[in-house]
Amino acid sequence: MPELSGFRKWGHRWIEVDRDGLPALHSAFVCGKKYCNANASLWQFQSAKTRCTVLRATFIALSESRWLRAVAERSRLGQRVSTRFVAGKEVADAIRAAAAMNQIGASVSIDNLGENVTNAEEARASAQLYHQLLDEIAADKLNANVSLKLTHMGLDADEKMAYENVRGLVAKAASMSPKNFVRVDMEGSPYTQRTLNFVHELHRVSSNEDSVGTVIQSYMRSAERDVEKLLSERIRIRLCKGAYKEPEDIAFQKKSEVDASYVKLMKVLMKSGVYHGLATHDETIIKEAKAFATRENIPRNAFEFQMLHGIRRDLQQSLVKDGWGMRVYIPFGTEWYPYFMRRLAERPANVFFIAKNLLRK
Ligand code: FDA
Repeated sequence: MPELSGFRKWGHRWIEVDRDGLPALHSAFVCGKKYCNANASLWQFQSAKTRCTVLRATFIALSESRWLRAVAERSRLGQRVSTRFVAGKEVADAIRAAAAMNQIGASVSIDNLGENVTNAEEARASAQLYHQLLDEIAADKLNANVSLKLTHMGLDADEKMAYENVRGLVAKAASMSPKNFVRVDMEGSPYTQRTLNFVHELHRVSSNEDSVGTVIQSYMRSAERDVEKLLSERIRIRLCKGAYKEPEDIAFQKKSEVDASYVKLMKVLMKSGVYHGLATHDETIIKEAKAFATRENIPRNAFEFQMLHGIRRDLQQSLVKDGWGMRVYIPFGTEWYPYFMRRLAERPANVFFIAKNLLRK
């Protein structure tokens, strides 16, 4: 095996790469140059259908590779590129990023990156870190809540233990003054029903009512039915399009269908009288939400827009400036790889921009 690490020439510049980083950087350039249109989102490749489907499927498949994950998360280059979407490795990094967002008028949801934990010890450590997060948010009086994944709390290792971990966190959030809130993120379809059932169960504990909510993905054909059921119990929902690769029988595949489903559900949520989150960077949909709120006399603080850390900061700031609720989702931690790959899947142009930025440094 040739020695790959060291300084490499790329264009007119020299950059330092470690042994694991070079193939990754090379793939980034090939994918980026070949496929990326700077302004397109994943879904906008519909006209070049095959290309879009292949790219999205490729990134999502890569996001599930345990081997690549181990290599990337260890490599120095990987750690450098992850900063595009990830606030840092430590709780202190997330707290600092949250304070900066609060300063510009946006609230925050902090996510400790990690998923598909396979042993009880790791799951308990993940839950413990969320306890620390809730304490630090309170100590610093931040306008922030937390988002977590059930598989990070150990769902694949021991379902009962995972539920106990989350139960403890929601109870803690509910007992704080002021109360805090735990959002249970939505993962791939094997976990959808279990996530919904568990959130319903948690929410039925009367002291938990304002302290737990979940996520609906508009690409799921079951989304409308699930929204109806959550709303019947006034459970807070984050509406997003969905970030996983799902088969056609359970999820819409076309952008037009996913968007139409989003807009339809968004209107139902906005009129429900419950405080929900509209998670999207899609400007057309955001415009439609604003127009709908104005038409229906829905106050600007009766719901919130939500966006990811590092994506469309311009839009985040302009929504805050115009008085709309805005929450930024801040991920941190060492297990950034699956999250990062899903962000590439959403917008392949990111590959090229990240590679370009690396060369600028
Ligand atoms: P779309 O993909 O159509 O993109 C619209 C525009 O947004 C693009 O043209 C581009 O300008 C910009 N954009 C979108 N993604 C970008 C990216 N990665 N980089 C740069 N620009 C980008 N999913 C899930 O399955 N479960 C969950 O729990 C969550 N949670 C969640 C929380 C929050 C706060 C957000 C914002 C998103 C999620 N998601 C999620 C991810 C979500 O399902 C979806 O994959 C992404 O938000 C991308 O979809 P958009 O709605 O932004 O639209």
